[in-house]
Amino acid sequence: MSTQIDHLLDESRRFPPSPEFAAQAVATEQLYTDAAADRLAFWADRSRELLHWHTPFTRTLDWSNPPFAKWFDDGELNVAYNCLDRHVEAGNGDRVAFHFEGEPGDTRTLTYAELTAEVKKAANVLTKLGISAGDRVAIYLPMIPEAVIAMLAVARIGAVHSVVFGGFSADSIRSRIDDANAKLVITADGGYRKGKASSLKPAVDAALTGGDGTSVEHVLVVKRTGQDVDWTDRDLWWHDEMAAAPAEHEAQPFPAENPLFILYTSGTTGKPKGILHTSGGYLTQTAFTTQAVFDLHPETDVYWCTADVGWVTGHSYVVYGPLASGATQVLYEGTPDTPHPGRWWELIEKYKVSILYTAPTAIRTFMKLGRQIPQKFDLSSLRVLGSVGEPINPEAWVWYREVIGAGKTPVVDTWWQTETGAIMVSALPGITSLKPGSAQVPIPGISIDVLDDSGTPVGEGNGGLLVVTEPWPSMLRGIWGDPDRFKETYWEKFGDKYFAGDGARLDDDGDLWLLGRVDDVMNVSGHRLSTAEIESSLVAHPLTAEAAVVGASDETTGQAVVAFVIIKASQTDAASAGDVAEILRAHVAQQIGAIARPRQIFVVNELPKTRSGKIMRRLLRDVAEGREVGDTTTLADTAIMQVITDAMK
Ligand code: WT7
Repeated sequence: MSTQIDHLLDESRRFPPSPEFAAQAVATEQLYTDAAADRLAFWADRSRELLHWHTPFTRTLDWSNPPFAKWFDDGELNVAYNCLDRHVEAGNGDRVAFHFEGEPGDTRTLTYAELTAEVKKAANVLTKLGISAGDRVAIYLPMIPEAVIAMLAVARIGAVHSVVFGGFSADSIRSRIDDANAKLVITADGGYRKGKASSLKPAVDAALTGGDGTSVEHVLVVKRTGQDVDWTDRDLWWHDEMAAAPAEHEAQPFPAENPLFILYTSGTTGKPKGILHTSGGYLTQTAFTTQAVFDLHPETDVYWCTADVGWVTGHSYVVYGPLASGATQVLYEGTPDTPHPGRWWELIEKYKVSILYTAPTAIRTFMKLGRQIPQKFDLSSLRVLGSVGEPINPEAWVWYREVIGAGKTPVVDTWWQTETGAIMVSALPGITSLKPGSAQVPIPGISIDVLDDSGTPVGEGNGGLLVVTEPWPSMLRGIWGDPDRFKETYWEKFGDKYFAGDGARLDDDGDLWLLGRVDDVMNVSGHRLSTAEIESSLVAHPLTAEAAVVGASDETTGQAVVAFVIIKASQTDAASAGDVAEILRAHVAQQIGAIARPRQIFVVNELPKTRSGKIMRRLLRDVAEGREVGDTTTLADTAIMQVITDAMK
């Protein structure tokens, strides 16, 4: 790790904004000055300027009961009204909200007026189905306009959505529905991925059968692919309900702290955490960062964030931030390489995309395929590029700017998390002199530090743990149903400072370099996975006696899941090691979802443990990454690593 960091810190290329870019930029130096002078007044100003408040707030932050923050809490607003109606009322109803492109090539254009009309009808459908403020609605949809419409309809009536990524399994859907006691599920028959129709409804059906019954009263089904689906009494077609719904719906105001959504993310235990976000503060910071970080000019830009709405990036930078800002967006259903490896670049040319926000893993995949593919397309509309999800290595950063951005576009590397709700650390493209590989500086109004284990700031030139030292508007308000876990996970280590779980280093200029997770959380293609969750899935299989999972570095995906398993003595004759590995890989994919499928599974006779019985994942990571095995002196059985290493040859 340390040689890697030294190599990074040698990075001396700097890319200041061009004078032309700086002159037209949305964000100015004044933002930093204002935020430094009075952080709370800065956020109150942003909130009043960016949002419509039905009832203006008079209190900015209530931090009297940390870590439970309240922002703007005596104000009232409607999140969907802020994303829709007010743009129509301001005369921008004809502006395109989404250029939708399905994977098979079908297209649909939705203006702000049309999107508003759809959401009003959908809000009436939800109300008719008995959903009211505070109720939870699970959404399991492909990347189609109905996903956005469903989220906004839930928000419009003050209910709470819990979007489950379409790649997750029936078990994962069930545990999320149960944890939140969802009353309604919105799904589709299927969606298009990798050139074929894949199914979604069967996973919902499976999630709702068995177990101890379910809180779900209805399942609303969008017809996307037209494939056959099983049907029960609780199922309703989305198009039937929408056709019967009244067109008018007046958005009611809700308190600023009304819950907006729960989004589950992996933690250090086997059970995913339901991260809770609320309304006014979340919308303020997502709108502000959309405009300041991406330099969004809503009248002229075409913005494309490639994230799925099943992840927080899709919530904050496909739905809430851009729509609150009146942006015109591209929404694409499918995979980047279907039907050909230039699909993304073709879409950028077709829709004249000017702002692109994506993940390093995608950039590295395109790098491998070669620059001749993007070079076949006209990408000259691009003017800002963004990166999120994991550290972007300087090589990928420079390739992104040179090949995709014609050597001209700023590249902003944005650090944040499901928990932070919105971007926390990023350059501002009209102001910052960019440094490839570094996320650089906190955005205005955000206070970040790097501490050592005892809570002392490490200072410039040193590494440690990333913390947020002051509450921020879009911060998580808790873990659904588990206030103790919320306190323990984020607030116990450093008192009133938020512990993010990431290692970071401050360079001599005071710029931040993110170094990856310091807990048992892996980052695979920008998606968070828990070692404990995959281990518990592995040991749930009858073949497995014990399992240890590590995140091994991977050239394309950042990290990859590598598992070491011990097979039950009674099962060792049942299958060859190769078969066992395949069976268990498939089992994990089926239990959690394809993203969790281990890249490799090694069948071993023993696992390296300390004398107190703790698995030494550090040593397994050495093996998985093909390195010399490190210090083994605390191992109970020091010969074991030799046995494992030999077994893998
Ligand atoms: C974890 C959060 C934020 C939306 C996507 C992931 C890592 C995120 C960066 C970045 C280095 C990053 C961190 C963080 N991460 N962005 N720009 N540079 N690391 O959201 O699933 O909640 O994961 O992703 O490790 O803790 P998430």
